[in-house]
Amino acid sequence: MPNLAKRKLGRTGLDVTVLGFGAMELRGNAGGRGRAIEPEQAGKLLNTVLDSGINFIDTSIDYGESEETIGKYISNRRNEYFLASKCGCPLDPPGAAWNPAGHVFTRENITKGVEQSLKRLNTDHLDLIQIHASPSKETLEHDHTVQTLQDLKKAGKIRFIGSSSVLPNIHDHIKMGVFDEFQIPYSALQREHEAAIAEAAKAGAGVVIRGGVAKGVPGEGRGAEDVWKLWDKAKLNDLLNGMTQMEFILRFTISNPDMATTIVGTMNPEHLKHNVEAASKGPLPAAVYAEAKRRLTAAGATA
Ligand SMILES: NC(=O)c1ccc[n+]([C@@H]2O[C@H](COP(=O)([O-])OP(=O)(O)OC[C@H]3O[C@@H](n4cnc5c(N)ncnc54)[C@H](OP(=O)(O)O)[C@@H]3O)[C@@H](O)[C@H]2O)c1
Repeated sequence: MPNLAKRKLGRTGLDVTVLGFGAMELRGNAGGRGRAIEPEQAGKLLNTVLDSGINFIDTSIDYGESEETIGKYISNRRNEYFLASKCGCPLDPPGAAWNPAGHVFTRENITKGVEQSLKRLNTDHLDLIQIHASPSKETLEHDHTVQTLQDLKKAGKIRFIGSSSVLPNIHDHIKMGVFDEFQIPYSALQREHEAAIAEAAKAGAGVVIRGGVAKGVPGEGRGAEDVWKLWDKAKLNDLLNGMTQMEFILRFTISNPDMATTIVGTMNPEHLKHNVEAASKGPLPAAVYAEAKRRLTAAGATA
């Protein structure tokens, strides 16, 4: 069986596998954003995730049926995975609808949201709760959000506090010094957060990468042509040396020394198997990684 390396998730001290699982693809198609998935198919996939050795799962109130599916199919294996969800989300969004403006960080909404997540996930604690939708520091201070989360921690409902943050607010979030983890978007083709990733890691926070395979090669996966055109511009095919593009892009993400895990999402068991095998091979050879970064920068990638 492929063997996934583990890394420390910053000051949480959690030993997480370099490949995690993003459970957004299990949201179903209510709300019109996701794809339909049979509950048994989702349950089987989640069990395969754990059988593959992956020990970190990310979900959200916002991901339609995802939390309930996790609760139904793998809560009996709860000691095999670290569980991360999000907070501030509307409590019962219509299906998988995504509405950043609908996120509210008050004590009432956060507390009710965590209670709802625990119930749906069929567990008594979350290992990690992440502020969703990257609100401003002013909003978090106005709503006393961090205090609420610290109270939930004291009550044993959550173990660590993180934030799913993006530019520009991520800099303020890191400086606040209260977050144990940051979930940050990043891949070879989307390097805008590279400096923020280094900043978060330097501050002692654990870094979880989302978007680590840029949603897959267009056609095979669901990546956007305009994102992937950088691949050709940087002539990355020259560096494959027998690897698939998916192996390369995933191992590029894992090559970033500041990240602990990347929560690649999939509802396809073949893609999951490929990702586990690729991630088990570890970072790219150092010279290939350096050359890929050089080519990407020359082709205009913002780092
Ligand atoms: N905090 C936030 O605001 C936020 C936003 C978005 C996502 N997330 C989290 O991050 C996770 C991942 O994010 P993401 O979906 O944006 O990015 P991603 O992991 O780069 O892309 C996932 C997509 O890639 C495809 N894929 C995966 N492995 C593949 C393979 N081997 N070959 C071809 N295609 C492959 C999947 O399609 P198939 O299902 O067809 O394989 C899926 O649609 C989500 O599940 C969620 O947990 C968080």
